Amino acid sequence: MAVTMALGVMAGCGADKGAAEEGNGGAVKETVLKIAFNQSENHPQYKALAAFGEKLKEETAGAYSLEIAPNALLGDQRATAELVQSGTIAMAVVGNPIVENFNKEFAVIGLPYIYDSLDHQKEVFTSGVLDELFASTEANGFFVAGSFTAGSRNVYTDKPIETPEDLAGYKVRVMESDTMVKMLDLMGGVGTPMGQGEVYTAVQQGVLEGGENNEVTYADLKHYEIAPYFSYTQHLMVPDLIIINDDIYNGMTAENKEIFDNLMNETIINEFEVWNESVEAAKAIAVENGATFVDVNIKPFQENVKPLHDEVTAASEGAKAIYEAIRGLVK
Ligand code: GCU
Repeated sequence: MAVTMALGVMAGCGADKGAAEEGNGGAVKETVLKIAFNQSENHPQYKALAAFGEKLKEETAGAYSLEIAPNALLGDQRATAELVQSGTIAMAVVGNPIVENFNKEFAVIGLPYIYDSLDHQKEVFTSGVLDELFASTEANGFFVAGSFTAGSRNVYTDKPIETPEDLAGYKVRVMESDTMVKMLDLMGGVGTPMGQGEVYTAVQQGVLEGGENNEVTYADLKHYEIAPYFSYTQHLMVPDLIIINDDIYNGMTAENKEIFDNLMNETIINEFEVWNESVEAAKAIAVENGATFVDVNIKPFQENVKPLHDEVTAASEGAKAIYEAIRGLVK
């Protein structure tokens, strides 16, 4: 059977003819979903997305495929969220704080110390308790299709950070939201919001004393060169959200939506499986390059950020309900 492929030039061009027309003598319209990603091809999320793309193409009989634009080629996460909103690109992976700027209730799922472990977070991401929240940004032109783990985030700077006092006067870069700034301030330092790509130079030039991130990004961006002490404050396990333009998703046939959704769920679980291996590899690279990993008693930090839990959950009934649902899943 000859199937002619009509190539969608831009993400989401044209309606989804899908597999339904195949065999009808009609052409299968191929839609390339372009997804912005601010990490490298080595990142576990990149690998998970690449596998997702291959299966999507296969299972939709060529109607949908994925094109990943890694290394922040399309801009920082804030800029790429806007590209998805306008439908210029179909999808992006953005840190939770970016989406928090569209709906404050997202702050709950990115609160410091809200998840007890990766297993707890996996339960939260796969149990459906976040479905309503994830659909809530539809009025903004996009919604959240799923969320990846990015492990735990920890502070790195020019000295070990073992107590909140150690952070006094230290300007530490945080992701761009009010909650992130308040969190770092409560932890004892000075939260300074900026995009990930500017951190290396800012620390090198003394504009910042350090950053906070997971081991994978710390090693991938060679931040050990400018901030060699990585202290296990474990203050965040912030979700990375996979966002998709509403119209593009809604242009899919019911059958293709189901394929997309099922593959997305599978991908989320797979990424959890490979995360720890990536952490070990990243740590080895950082240590080889002179980094020191410091164990920390997290209790004082946990105590310090409690007012932020109260503030964020008191903001709305919805926020409180999400908080309780997440804590209710602790085993
Ligand atoms: C992590 C996270 C990214 C985020 C980055 C950051 O690497 O996975 O989504 O962009 O941190 O600190 O900005």
